[in-house]
Amino acid sequence: NGESSLSITVVGASGDLAKKKIFPALFALFYEGCLPKHFTIFGYARSKMTDEELRKMISGTLTCRIDQRENCEDKIDNFLKKCFYHAGQYNSEADFKQLDAKLKTHEGGRVANRLFYLSIPPNIFIDVARCASSSASSEQGWTRVIVEKPFGRDSASSAELTKGLKQFLAEEQIYRIDHYLGKELVENLSVLRFSNLVFEPLWSRQYIRNVQFLFSEDFGTEGRGGYFDGYGIIRDIMQNHLLQMLAIFAMEPPVSLDAEDIRNEKVKVLRSMRTLNLEDVVIGQYKSHVRGGVRYPGYTDDKTVPPNSITPTFAAAALFIDNARWDGVPFLMKAGKALNNRRTEIRVQFRHVPGNLYKRSFGTDLDQATNELVIRVQPDEAIYLKINNKIPGLGMRLDRSNLNLLYADRYSREIPDAYERLLLDAIEGERRLFIRSDELDAAWAIFTPLLQELETRRVSPELYPYGSRGPVGAHYLAAKYNVRWGDLNVESQV
Ligand code: BG6
Repeated sequence: NGESSLSITVVGASGDLAKKKIFPALFALFYEGCLPKHFTIFGYARSKMTDEELRKMISGTLTCRIDQRENCEDKIDNFLKKCFYHAGQYNSEADFKQLDAKLKTHEGGRVANRLFYLSIPPNIFIDVARCASSSASSEQGWTRVIVEKPFGRDSASSAELTKGLKQFLAEEQIYRIDHYLGKELVENLSVLRFSNLVFEPLWSRQYIRNVQFLFSEDFGTEGRGGYFDGYGIIRDIMQNHLLQMLAIFAMEPPVSLDAEDIRNEKVKVLRSMRTLNLEDVVIGQYKSHVRGGVRYPGYTDDKTVPPNSITPTFAAAALFIDNARWDGVPFLMKAGKALNNRRTEIRVQFRHVPGNLYKRSFGTDLDQATNELVIRVQPDEAIYLKINNKIPGLGMRLDRSNLNLLYADRYSREIPDAYERLLLDAIEGERRLFIRSDELDAAWAIFTPLLQELETRRVSPELYPYGSRGPVGAHYLAAKYNVRWGDLNVESQV
């Protein structure tokens, strides 16, 4: 039989990520007709479960998109028929051998490609990589393994993890996910830059005063404190999600859209960055807060968090890229949990207009007149540019208005979840949106000295109330570089 088959094994099938993201994304791909005709999905975990129980567990999480409600139930049933379960230990080659036998039955003698999604804690990545590669890898087709952060806690532990994985897998087989790279607006960043004449010529220290990468969530660690406490917000969000966006934002134009060309440029820009200093960082932790009669818990109220924890749930940082394009431009990052809203955006603040003829209309505050480009990654995906505009009428008064591209108004399609795109890319062998190991090393090199210093000096985070805008220290940090956080401007929101 000339047709190949695809077997996807979700290792850690009963975990949160698998239930919330991976199975739903696989179903969405199935619905869209993106999976090959012959495919099988296996859940793998330690607990005993029948195929039926697995199906029941995942069926509750599957939904159809608004524009795909037709035949939704049938599609779900057909998908579930392709899902199976195998119970086994994560370090047992014998258990993976049994999985291999089951996979073979489903593959029916076709050339089999195998994808393993390691939805498990990183301390067992290497065991699983060993067992999967020795006992359950494909004989004729490809075998690929998707792993997700945390990739270590610092440069040394990350290098060790990479070394461990590479004992059993070639770099080309390892797909390191950063799910922010699968987000629609993050993918669009290079389209915006490299396919529009009006942006790229301005994309440098000559016209850009500062760039801000902002991440906020309006909920705390709720239930994830056990994991989170060992990592903190800098490792959880900044070193990966925000830094990845920064790399794509700031890289030089790649030679082509090939994965290696893009990743080469990302590595270069990351390697041009200064290591982060303690003086350029502010950390915070949320404390309980009562509002409208409701008490919102503090971080250390979480039962899974040690009561004296100093793990940051908020951080602001000023980073610099020492290359010709970006010399002296502050790249500010701010990330926090339990803040006043949920939002991820990139804000580009341009320089003042030299000799602005309309200066008087802005009073003394020229900052009010700077152009700002906002790329709102979520929610309500949008790109907008703040410009100065004459208020219609006989007088000469100016205001700031937005040139708006709101995705919900412009496009009627629902935006696919990041995991759909990334899983599809891994199946198709497209590596552009996955992190190469040298990229990971460069990313850790920027943050490792700071993380170690925070820990050895036991730097205490500034407390901020749950649901607030975060610690005031963040304003002083920005002010030090003559920057105002763009997201604090109320009228700046569309
Ligand atoms: C994860 C972090 O990587 O990203 C979480 O570990 C965070 O702490 C999540 O909540 C945010 O992802 P998203 O896609 O919901 O913005």
